[in-house]
Amino acid sequence: MSKRILTIFGTRPEAIKLFPLVHALEADARFDSRVCVSGQHRGMLDQVLEISGVVPHHDLDLMQPDQSLDQLTARLITGLGAVMDAEKPDWVVVQGDTATAMCGALAAYYRKIRVCHVEAGLRSGNIYHPWPEEVNRKVIGSIAALHCAPTEVSQAALLKENVDPATVHVTGNTVIDALHRITAKIEADPSLASGLAELEERFKGKRIIGVTTHRRENFGGGMEAIADAVRRLAARPDVAVIFPVHLNPNVRAVMDGALGGIANVAMIEPLDYPHFARLLSLADLMLTDSGGVQEEAPALGKPVLVMRETTERPEGIDAGTAMLVGTDADRILAEATRLLDDRAAYEAMARAHNPFGDGHSAARICELLAG
Ligand code: UD1
Ligand code: UDP
Repeated sequence: MSKRILTIFGTRPEAIKLFPLVHALEADARFDSRVCVSGQHRGMLDQVLEISGVVPHHDLDLMQPDQSLDQLTARLITGLGAVMDAEKPDWVVVQGDTATAMCGALAAYYRKIRVCHVEAGLRSGNIYHPWPEEVNRKVIGSIAALHCAPTEVSQAALLKENVDPATVHVTGNTVIDALHRITAKIEADPSLASGLAELEERFKGKRIIGVTTHRRENFGGGMEAIADAVRRLAARPDVAVIFPVHLNPNVRAVMDGALGGIANVAMIEPLDYPHFARLLSLADLMLTDSGGVQEEAPALGKPVLVMRETTERPEGIDAGTAMLVGTDADRILAEATRLLDDRAAYEAMARAHNPFGDGHSAARICELLAG
């Protein structure tokens, strides 16, 4: 009898990191693959569903504007629990550290359904950076029966917390599977990523800086400092900033006010994944507080300045492609300026290095679920 696997996700990064696994489960007769999306994100989730071709069996559609953590959590627990009661899966699969992932694990635990955690064992050691993701991961880590750690660093973090070693496996990060697949899709059909052509023409000859930001712990002062650094950086005539702005209203309000109308700054809508991959390939430098971008940029040899106080992804920093710069505007500006002006410093960071996986993580996870 095939095993019924209920894969649950709700936000853009989870969808990106789980579509390769959903495809692998669907193609494998050992599994009866079911997919539930919470709709924690709407537009940004739908962008990934469309490009990946994943069609969910359940869509809770529960996003509300400027949702609070407690309301979101309450809606998720009851909604996901009801889907589990209907589907009665052998395994629930969750990814990463979002509210959807944490509530999926908790609702499964309440029903004594086994949980597989994809991207397990990431720890910053600080429960307020990233907030609330560090605690979400710990909750999932204490429930999961199968921990798919992307690297040996994350494996070691779980073992340090006395997680049963037999349940922890280094699988690589499925983000690299996703990146490889999307790159192959673009090679086969370049029109999938041709929507930036106008900006590419407008900024010809300039050094492109890609920016993303959205972390809750950066709301307020952190966001304002990031905007200030971007504004001062864009005052250089040799620089252009491409900034797909996250749909969170707390991000938009600050960025629209601080960066609107600046000639060298293109604030644009969130890009679908092929276009974001195109932006990564165009960029000389990425400034971000994103988790996923910290994994993709090293794989592509793009220096990345991480605008956070801590990171649960030290591998990019150890590899020399990423640097933790916090959210002080002067520091962000100084490090970006150094990389733009010091060729040797730039070259030292711009080496493709891939600590996060080989693109075969989804296949490994399938074997673990089958076993
Ligand atoms: C969430 C995750 C975070 C993850 C991020 C990825 C939690 C607590 N946070 O943060 O871990 O890094 O997603 O992007 O799980 N919105 C839209 N349309 C969208 C998406 C968001 O309008 O497609 C707006 C809505 O007003 C929504 C708000 O953004 O209420 C916040 O969304 P939410 O998922 O709660 O938080 P994120 O900051 O996106
Ligand atoms: N991404 C995207 N379009 C964008 C910005 C980001 O497709 O406009 C992708 C990016 O390639 C990465 C993921 O979204 O795979 C990261 O999502 P986000 O930064 O929202 O969340 P995090 O990774 O911090 O949880």
